Amino acid sequence: MHRETADSPFIRACRRQPVPHTPVWYMRQAGRSLPEYRAVRSGVPMLTACATPDLIVEVTMQPVRRYGVDAAIFFSDIVVPLKAIGVDLDIVPGVGPVVAAPIRDAAALGALRPLEPGDVPYVTEAVQALVKELGATPLIGFAGAPFTLASYLIEGGPSKNHDHTKAMMYGEPELWHDLMDRLTTITLAYLRLQAEAGASALQLFDSWVGAVAPADYREFVFPHTSRIFEGLADLGVPRVHFGVGTGELLPLMAEAGADVVGVDWRVPLSEAARRVGPGKALQGNLDPAILLAPWDVVERRARAVLAEGRAAEGHVFNLGHGVLPATDPEILTRLTRLVQETTA
Ligand code: CP3
Repeated sequence: MHRETADSPFIRACRRQPVPHTPVWYMRQAGRSLPEYRAVRSGVPMLTACATPDLIVEVTMQPVRRYGVDAAIFFSDIVVPLKAIGVDLDIVPGVGPVVAAPIRDAAALGALRPLEPGDVPYVTEAVQALVKELGATPLIGFAGAPFTLASYLIEGGPSKNHDHTKAMMYGEPELWHDLMDRLTTITLAYLRLQAEAGASALQLFDSWVGAVAPADYREFVFPHTSRIFEGLADLGVPRVHFGVGTGELLPLMAEAGADVVGVDWRVPLSEAARRVGPGKALQGNLDPAILLAPWDVVERRARAVLAEGRAAEGHVFNLGHGVLPATDPEILTRLTRLVQETTA
C-alpha cells in the first residue's frame, strides 16, 4: 500500500528523508478562496457536500489541479464522524459547527457511541476514488482531536474562551475523561478507516487546544491524544499533529507521538525545532494573513520560513492556519511555485 506516494517530497519530508524541494500544501486549500469551489458548493449545504463522494473528490482535486501542491487534503470537516453517529449538529455558514443539544452531563454522553465503518461509506468511497485519481500525489486524511471536538460538543458551537469546556475539565474530571475517551475511540476508528482506504498520511487537528496550559494538557489531553497516535502506529503512515496557539505545548504534542508537528505563525520554526526535539519533522508556518499583502512581502516572508525550516529535520511548508477566504488564489499559485523552485 502507498507504494506510489512513498517517494513523494511530502512523505519523504514527513519521514525526515532528503527531498529535492520543500513540499508544500495549505490547510483549507480547498475552500471559499477558490471560485471553482464556490461554484460547485452553491446551494449545497456543507454537510451534504461532505457526504457526497463525487463532490468530495472534485473539491479535494481543485487545489491540486490549480496549484500543483505536493499533497491533497481530504475535503470534509472535523464534525463529520460525530454527525455520522447521530449527533444532531450542523455547519452554519460564517459560524462553524453548531450542536443542537450541548453535551454537559453523564446522561448526554450516551450519544457518543463508537464509529463503525458502515457509518461513513461515503468517506471510504471518496478516499478510494481520490487515491486512484491522485496517483503519486499523497492524500492526507484527517480528524479533529478530542479536545477540539469536546469544545464544540460542550459549548454547542464555536467559543472564544471555552468556558463550559474548562468547567467540565476542572470541575468534573471523571466526566471529562469519559467524554475524551469516547471521542478518542471515535477519532481513532475514523483515522484508521481513512488510512485503510488508502490515505498516505493522517493529520490530527487540535485547533483549539492552545487554550490549555501545559500541566493541564499533560493531565487532561495527553493521555487521549497519545492513545490515538499509538493506535495508528502499525499503519506505517506519517502522523501529523496541529494546533493553533500551541507554542508552549509543542514539546508535549511531540511527545504524544506524532511524526510531524504543525506550528502556527507565533513561533519561528528554528525555535519550534528546539521545542519538539530530535526525531520530528515540522509543518508550517507562514501567517495566513501575510497572503493579503503585496507579493514582494509574501515572497520575503516565505523565504524566511523556508530558511527557518532548515533547522528542522524535515520541513513541510504550510500556513500557520487555514487559507483565509479573502485570499487571492493567484498569490497561492506564485507561492507554491516559489517553494517548489527553491532547492531544499
Ligand atoms: O482544505 C482543507 O483543509 C480540507 C477541508 C477542511 C474543512 N474543515 C473544510 C471546511 C478541514 C481540514 C476542516 C477542519 C476543521 N473544521 C477544523 C480544524 C482546522 C482548523 O481550521 O483549525 C475546524 C476547527 C473545523 C470547524 C469548522 N468547520 C469551522 C471553524 C468552519 C468555518 C465556518 C465558516 O463558515 O467560517 C467550518 C466549515 C468549513 N469546513 C468550511 C470548509 C471549506 C466552510 C464552509 C463552506 O464553505 O460553506
